[in-house]
Amino acid sequence: MEVTSSFKKKAGQLRLVAAQINLSVVKDGLSLEKALDGISTFSKRDAALLKALSYGAIRWHHRIQWQANRLLDRPLKNNDELISALIRVGLYQLQWMRIPDHAAVAETVSAAGLLGKPKFKGLVNAVLRRFLREQKILMSAMNKNEGAATSHSSWMRDRLKADWPDQWLDIVKVNNDPPPMWLRVNNKFSSRDDYLGRLEKSGIKAKAFDDLPNALLLKEPQPMSTLPGYDEGEVSVQDAGAQLACGFLNLEPGLKVLDACAAPGGKSAHILETCPEIGKLVALDQDKRRLTVMAEEFQRLDLSGNLIHSDAAMVSKWWDGVPFDRILVDAPCSALGIIRRHPDIKVLRRSADIGKFVAIQRRLLKALWPILAPGGRLVYSTCTIVKEENQYQKAWFLEKISMEKYQASSFRQILPGEGNMDGFYYAWVDKQH
Ligand SMILES: C[S@@+](CC[C@H](N)C(=O)[O-])C[C@H]1O[C@@H](n2cnc3c(N)ncnc32)[C@H](O)[C@@H]1O
Repeated sequence: MEVTSSFKKKAGQLRLVAAQINLSVVKDGLSLEKALDGISTFSKRDAALLKALSYGAIRWHHRIQWQANRLLDRPLKNNDELISALIRVGLYQLQWMRIPDHAAVAETVSAAGLLGKPKFKGLVNAVLRRFLREQKILMSAMNKNEGAATSHSSWMRDRLKADWPDQWLDIVKVNNDPPPMWLRVNNKFSSRDDYLGRLEKSGIKAKAFDDLPNALLLKEPQPMSTLPGYDEGEVSVQDAGAQLACGFLNLEPGLKVLDACAAPGGKSAHILETCPEIGKLVALDQDKRRLTVMAEEFQRLDLSGNLIHSDAAMVSKWWDGVPFDRILVDAPCSALGIIRRHPDIKVLRRSADIGKFVAIQRRLLKALWPILAPGGRLVYSTCTIVKEENQYQKAWFLEKISMEKYQASSFRQILPGEGNMDGFYYAWVDKQH
């Protein structure tokens, strides 16, 4: 009896923490990553549950909030926001987690009890039970409501419809899927096929990807610690869409390469693994914390590069005056191509952010084109699918910045889910000799 009640209490406490995390994203605007910062203090099992509840409730936020609005007789007051968050977590559990309904309701009600106001227990109990009773009617009404059915905000749906009228429904569907896990095998240690064999021996199923020489797609995501040779740098986790960057750079020994927006270093590391004989890699980022993560990653991979903390557009502050043969501008962007990996983007991103990103991207491109050597290549990339940041940005660049001084240019847009990749955009421009 005692075990049961302390178990219940703990289950309730975890739901309350999940509600606090949910609220810090929805109300305070924190990213899920930041909001989950403290969960390492929980046991592995509890941390995994908190992560699943937090990511899931945010992934389906727009749908769940719509359901909650219909299930509540009247809207909750502003100071009842934690209870709203708890109801969202409860509704998420009832629909997407393999927890029996009665247990999910009891745990969420027990979480409400921890707030010390008995009326909250009754309210949470009533809303969740009403959901179970009226689920069928609710679902059929939901299917007629585009926001709830797709679980995307209206500005985001409008943007996707405008840019991708024939594909937008597939895109929102993929955005709501959990992301796959891709690996990048470091050929310094083993071939991709050898590593695939080692994974299989460890009981991890994966398959190779024809388009990319080092990419492996895992059948099921795994903790990194279970990947053979991970600590020794034999393998890294990187989406296949991100692994395309290296090919577009057309690397050769002896070249001087700039990665202008480099942290946390995935593409820089891939550059050095693919072509260790390049002459020099300069990697810049204006975010010190992300650069620290990059330095740690370089240590794990036993790589060295010139990591510089600076605003890449302020060229006079960091450039040694010798032009680069390759420049990668992996620009900050709205990140609408990686929503399945970062579902908080659906909650946090605002329509007005797009224009801000466009301006930042233009500033970087304008400043960096002049320091590309004649005959050199600039690769511009984003992890978004917004045309204003991609296709229209390329057109602007060719017309206003590179003008007649380029000899070739092309692009590739990958939509989320294509080849099971995240959404990425790449444009490359070769400068005249
Ligand atoms: C898309 S992320 C880069 C990801 C990285 N290339 C990788 O593959 O791991 C964009 C990065 O640009 C950095 N950034 C934004 N504005 C910058 C600027 N003006 N100068 C240098 N870095 C900048 C951000 O701090 C962020 O780390």
